[in-house]
Amino acid sequence: MTTPTLPTVTPTPSPQSAHELAPYKTRSNEELIARITAVREELGDSLLILGHHYQQDEVVEHTDLRGDSYQLSEMAAQSETCRTIVFCGVHFMAETADILANRPDKLAARGGQRVRVILPDMAAGCSMADMAAISQVEAAWEDMSDVIDTERVIPVTYINSAASLKAFCGKHGGIVCTSSNARAVLQWAFERGDRVFFFPDQHLGRNTALTMGIGEDQMPVWDPYELELGGNEEQAIRDSRVILWKGHCSVHQMFRPEHVAQFRQQHPGIKILVHPECPREVNDLADVSGSTGLIIKTVKNSPPGTKWAIGTELHLVNRLKAEHPEQEIHFLSPVVCMCATMYRIDLPHLCWSLENLREGTPVNTIEVPEEVRKWSLVALERMLAVK
Ligand code: 13P
Ligand code: SF4
Repeated sequence: MTTPTLPTVTPTPSPQSAHELAPYKTRSNEELIARITAVREELGDSLLILGHHYQQDEVVEHTDLRGDSYQLSEMAAQSETCRTIVFCGVHFMAETADILANRPDKLAARGGQRVRVILPDMAAGCSMADMAAISQVEAAWEDMSDVIDTERVIPVTYINSAASLKAFCGKHGGIVCTSSNARAVLQWAFERGDRVFFFPDQHLGRNTALTMGIGEDQMPVWDPYELELGGNEEQAIRDSRVILWKGHCSVHQMFRPEHVAQFRQQHPGIKILVHPECPREVNDLADVSGSTGLIIKTVKNSPPGTKWAIGTELHLVNRLKAEHPEQEIHFLSPVVCMCATMYRIDLPHLCWSLENLREGTPVNTIEVPEEVRKWSLVALERMLAVK
C-alpha cells in the first residue's frame, strides 16, 4: 500500500475573516514566516503558541509547545508568564485552554488579568464534538431517568466536546477524559456510580470499557435521533454498564480491518499502532492503541528497523515517517484520512491573528460564558486529579 499524499486544496476562509485574510493569502510562505517570527520575538514570553500533533508542519514549526489533548490541557493549566495563548488546534481545545488558564486561583495571582485565548480560524471545529449538542444530551438524560436512577449514572465526556457538555458533567457528578486517561477516568466513575453515560465518541468509550472486562452487550448505543430511549429497549438500558453516545470521528472511522489484514499479509512482522477513536474491529486487531502522545512515544522508543502501520491523522503519521527514517512507517489506509478542520489553521490565519494581536485589535478570542466555565472547570479539575 502506498501512503496517500496530502491534497493541495486550500480550505475556504470562514466568512468572518474572509476579507481581512485576503491580503495574507497572496503572500509567500517566506514572507508570512518572517512576519510571524517578528511578532513572536516582539511579544516574547507574553505569547504562548500551542499546537496539536495533527497540525500541518508549517504551523507546527511556529508553536512553543506541542502535545496531545491531555498534555495541551496541562500546558494551559500551568501557563505562568503568558498573557495570550494562540491555539493551533480546534475549537474545543481553545475553550479548554480558556477555562484552565483563567481559573479563579490563576486570575487572582494575576491581579484579575485574563489570559486571552485565540483560535486563528473560528471554523476549526471538530466534527465529532458537533455530534452531541447540549440540548440532546440533556434530553437523553431526562429520558433515561424514566428507566434508571440517574443519580447513580456518572456522565463522562471526551474532551472533544463543547464546554457546555463538560459543564453538564461537572453539574452531575461527572468528569472529562482524554484518549490518554480514559481507562483511569472510567475507573474513577465506577467508584462513584453504577454506570457511565459516555459521549460523544462511542469508539473511545467502547474500546476503553472492553479493556475493563465490560461486554459489548452491556454497552447500548444511544442514538439522539431516535425518539424512544435512543433506539434501545428498556431492558438494555437497565442492563447497561456504559451507555455510549452515537458519535464518531470521521477521520478515524476510515480505518478498516481489511487494511490491517492487508498490511499483515504484505509486510510480515509489521506492528499496527492506532488511536482508540478507531472502530472496535480495528482497535481489537492492533498491537498498540493510544493517544497521539503515546503513538509518538511508542515509535520513538522502538529499535531501528521496526515496521509500523499507523492508524491516525495523516499529518502526524507523515511527520513520524520523516523524523524516524530508521524505521519503516506506513499509513494504515489507502485513502487520505486528515482532519480537515485542524487543517484550516494555516500560515495566513496564524499571521493574521498574531499581527492583529500585536496591533491591539485581537481577533477570534474564545471566551467561555461564566456559568459554563464554572461547571466545566469542576469536571476538568476532576480529570486532572485522576492519576
Ligand atoms: P489526542 O488526545 O490523542 O491528541 O486526540 C485528540 C484528537 O482529536 C484525536 O482525534
Ligand atoms: Fe475531531 Fe476527529 Fe479532527 Fe480529532 S481528528 S479533532 S476527533 S474530527
